[in-house]
Amino acid sequence: MGCTLTATEPRRVHSMKSEPVSSNAIHTTILEEVKQMKKPEKIKERTSSVLDNRIPLSSRQKFQIVKSWKGIERNIKTTGINMFLRLFEANDEIMQLFVFIGGYKTVTELRESESLVGHVTMVMHTIDEAITSLDDSEYVINMLQSIGKSHKTRLKDFDPNQFWKIEDPFLLAVKETLGDRYTSNMENIYNLTIRFILETLIEGFNLG
Ligand code: HEM
Repeated sequence: MGCTLTATEPRRVHSMKSEPVSSNAIHTTILEEVKQMKKPEKIKERTSSVLDNRIPLSSRQKFQIVKSWKGIERNIKTTGINMFLRLFEANDEIMQLFVFIGGYKTVTELRESESLVGHVTMVMHTIDEAITSLDDSEYVINMLQSIGKSHKTRLKDFDPNQFWKIEDPFLLAVKETLGDRYTSNMENIYNLTIRFILETLIEGFNLG
């Protein structure tokens, strides 16, 4: 798909709703908001296409994941939301980081917030950009490192190991979206890829 991120700061509009809502309603609200969001604009052209051992995939594996990822691209928003709802179910402390940064008072406010919806979109587009740029190692590594670095700037108490918390929810969400197409070969390739992405974010964080 080849979309990249804009450098614009997500708007922080706080929902003032105080009524409790069901998780289905939360899911629907986030899904609807994400559907309204524009795809980030491309900010940089890719430059090269070389084999590089910093990318842990063979040419064939890169080809296979780009092909498989088309199945996710068609459902990228739902996959992203499923991933985050799982992440929050299992890790209250990660949800608290968003509460902190957006000044939300309740979990309901956070779940309905633009900040969270914006982040779901940014995470999925970052992963999309990484997967579709694996042939350009210099670009993909720089892009991921700079995002890792910016988490250091933005989140004072963020432990970079928290990036790993997204690994299982990501793999589960991909599995759910791809269904039968998630073969054991694809499982292995997605495992290698998400590990590469998270390791590179952490490297960037540590360089920051
Ligand atoms: C798992 C723990 C993570 C937490 C707690 C977290 C938290 C945050 C927060 C609070 C922001 C600022 C949002 C705002 O200002 O409204 C942010 C921005 C962002 N996050 Fe994350 N994030 C996590 C993982 C990731 C991952 C895995 C990716 C990419 C694969 C990612 C990509 C981004 C991007 C692209 C931005 C906006 C640009 C930037 O500041 O770099 N985040 N994140």
